[in-house]
Amino acid sequence: MELKVTDDGADSYEEVMLIYNAALKQIATKLEILNEEFQHVHNYNPIEHIKARIKTSESIVKKLKKQGYEATIANMVKYVNDIAGIRVICSFKSDIYRIADIISNQSDIKIVAIKDYIAAPKESGYESYHMLVLIPVYLSDRIVDAKVEVQIRTIAMDFWASLEHKIQYKFTGEVPEHINTELRECSKMISELDVKMLSLNNEIREL
Ligand code: GTP
Ligand code: MG
Repeated sequence: MELKVTDDGADSYEEVMLIYNAALKQIATKLEILNEEFQHVHNYNPIEHIKARIKTSESIVKKLKKQGYEATIANMVKYVNDIAGIRVICSFKSDIYRIADIISNQSDIKIVAIKDYIAAPKESGYESYHMLVLIPVYLSDRIVDAKVEVQIRTIAMDFWASLEHKIQYKFTGEVPEHINTELRECSKMISELDVKMLSLNNEIREL
């Protein structure tokens, strides 16, 4: 399989990836600052941890081909929304919306799309809050907006998603129906667990 994205004259692959990397670092720093501020003001950390990753060139090419696009730099910038991805893991469901709100209110960040798979879980049972955002990256001679996919979920949702992902990978998509059914049941249990943990936490905080 062809691994390198073709240089179509715009920017080099390395330069584009440098921009995505910078965008990812900026979002991660913003979130770390928010968490520290929350700790300072409310004596509470809404963020449990953060995972940031850049998509490999193999995955970028694979995704473009799957969507029927040629593997060019222009196409990857236009059509691949998750080249820069950040996952924010929270303890409680309420933290998710709190963080999403704060991100939305930052004046340098533009929201491109929101997918609330918590309000409406996927058929698989997947729950998470997705934001596609644009963040400006300041280069020596210009400012460019870079896309970052932000996934916000609870520890329990993350637990489910990582097991489900492993299962999908193991069976390359052809997962036995009873496993899918059990995964959907687990998703419901996790959702109930999140509700219980939140109400317990609220009760404790009021004491
Ligand atoms: P891709 O799935 O990346 O092609 O994008 P999409 O346009 O379908 O966007 P969506 O927001 O639905 O999913 C983006 C990302 O969310 C995926 O790359 C996964 O990381 C995660 N995701 C979405 N659905 C599932 C799911 O059913 N299970 C798991 N484990 N992760 C999921
Ligand atoms: Mg993806």
